Amino acid sequence: MHSTKTVAREIAEKLNKFEKIYLNPVAGSGSCDIELAKKFKKVAFLLVEKKFKRAFKAASKAEKFGLTNVLVVRGKFEQFLDVVRGFTCDCINLLFPDPWPKERWKENRLYAYSTLRDMISILKPRGNLLVKTDSWLIFAEILVSSAIASKNKYYRLPYKEPIKVLRSDFEKKFLAKKQSIGFFVVKNTTPFSTSF
Ligand SMILES: C[S@@+](CC[C@H](N)C(=O)[O-])C[C@H]1O[C@@H](n2cnc3c(N)ncnc32)[C@H](O)[C@@H]1O
Repeated sequence: MHSTKTVAREIAEKLNKFEKIYLNPVAGSGSCDIELAKKFKKVAFLLVEKKFKRAFKAASKAEKFGLTNVLVVRGKFEQFLDVVRGFTCDCINLLFPDPWPKERWKENRLYAYSTLRDMISILKPRGNLLVKTDSWLIFAEILVSSAIASKNKYYRLPYKEPIKVLRSDFEKKFLAKKQSIGFFVVKNTTPFSTSF
């Protein structure tokens, strides 16, 4: 049985071999991440998903395309935080986290202040945390949490931004139902450290 520290070190060593690290804490079956991983082989894609079937689907796709830059973890993101703290990310894509609307479920909200703070703390200088949600309640909560959790710059982008991006599975579903989507970015504006 490996200790969390050993697993954390092994994962960090694997990911740090790549030029960049991308994290999706609520990956679902990872369709858009796998498409990105096919295009960007120098980027490590770490996908976390709590549901076994979805995580298995993501891992199967990665295997099918022979992608050695994809690592799928089946579990709750918050339980994986000690491992995640072993490295820093260039990009975190928090796409459509579940709303958990009832007060007694609030511990599960991945967009709550403490989890957002943890995510922001593992961003590399100039790294981005991208959040998309169909829920305006979540959007409002994220705005407040980010303002508290982050000394960094954060800004809301118009959803129909000119950059062509891949749509996630849930994004396609919400767009098909003509639901509006909120898009929000937190940027770590800490300058790169320079050593002389
Ligand atoms: C609404 S879906 C979005 C999936 C994907 N990001 C997309 O946009 O298609 C939310 C996903 O997050 C997963 N999830 C919810 N809470 C989680 C947690 N604490 N840790 C990891 N995955 C979680 C759910 O099982 C579900 O697959």
